Amino acid sequence: MQATALAHSNIALVKYWGKKDTALNIPAVGSISITLDALWTKTSVQFDAMLKDDVLELNDEDATDKETIRVSRFLDLVREAAGIKECARIQSKNNFPTSAGLASSASAFAALALAATNAAGLDFPGTKLSEMARKGSGSAARSIFGGYVEMSKGSKPDGSDAIARQIASADHWPLILLIAVTSEAKKKTGSTDGMELSRLTSPYYTPWVESSPADMQEMRQAIAEKDYSKLGTLSEFSALKMHALAIASDPGLLYWNGTTVEGMHLVRSLRQKGHEAYFTIDAGPQLKVLCQPDEADIISNALENLEGVKRVIRTGIGGDARLNEEF
Ligand code: PMV
Repeated sequence: MQATALAHSNIALVKYWGKKDTALNIPAVGSISITLDALWTKTSVQFDAMLKDDVLELNDEDATDKETIRVSRFLDLVREAAGIKECARIQSKNNFPTSAGLASSASAFAALALAATNAAGLDFPGTKLSEMARKGSGSAARSIFGGYVEMSKGSKPDGSDAIARQIASADHWPLILLIAVTSEAKKKTGSTDGMELSRLTSPYYTPWVESSPADMQEMRQAIAEKDYSKLGTLSEFSALKMHALAIASDPGLLYWNGTTVEGMHLVRSLRQKGHEAYFTIDAGPQLKVLCQPDEADIISNALENLEGVKRVIRTGIGGDARLNEEF
């Protein structure tokens, strides 16, 4: 009744923001991401009849009550599917600093879904794992798969078709993502609360949802044709559109700091000089920059030299979530 799994983080090129169903965690829009090779979570789950409660350890430390409750609720879904009642000991670690505000819920819930279902004796195919991971965190549904991944918003009320699938493998087109870390502080408003606030208060919410299918179609095409300018331009547009939606919420959600803004200007000035870099930003202050492999050094140096950037993490495109023998 024990299993260990590894899952990579991912970055959305066409962003997800907003839920159609909060209880089942069904997204209001589709999204398209790349899986990130250099950033991963490894998680071990052991169901044990002797335990009275689930016990969670994160990065070698006891987890907070809030973290443990979130994981326990997720494990309840696995226990229900497997018809078991045992509590579990869960150990999880990221190979990147959790405090840096880098998306860790995507890799965390993908690794947990794979390890927990396996430890419970279930052998789920990727689609079912993706549906399960989505209930932990929407972006986690995408981290089940490597390469270029599309998450569908689905149309069924039970969420069984709100799942991710790979649309191109990592080898199809090797791109690089540079993550400029601008703050190590934890974000103030998590994505779930932020999305609900935007849905309820932002005047841009309906146009955001309505304009999503066209972005999805254009990004699918950019990936199929390996049209880098199109992919980059659309990634930057989708990120800015998501932040415009968030900023227009009441009270406005402002995830950027000064360095994030300076970084956006830097990326655009690099482009004017002929270096094709494009930025994207999630619900936090880190600036993520897309580039082609032959330009990664020059763009990484420019980001490192920007005042306020603490460090730059470089990653290529990674593979599927997988079972692992060792924790
Ligand atoms: O699924 P969550 O709660 O990790 O939300 C993801 C939200 C963004 O990272 C901002 C966008 C995305 O599609 O990953």
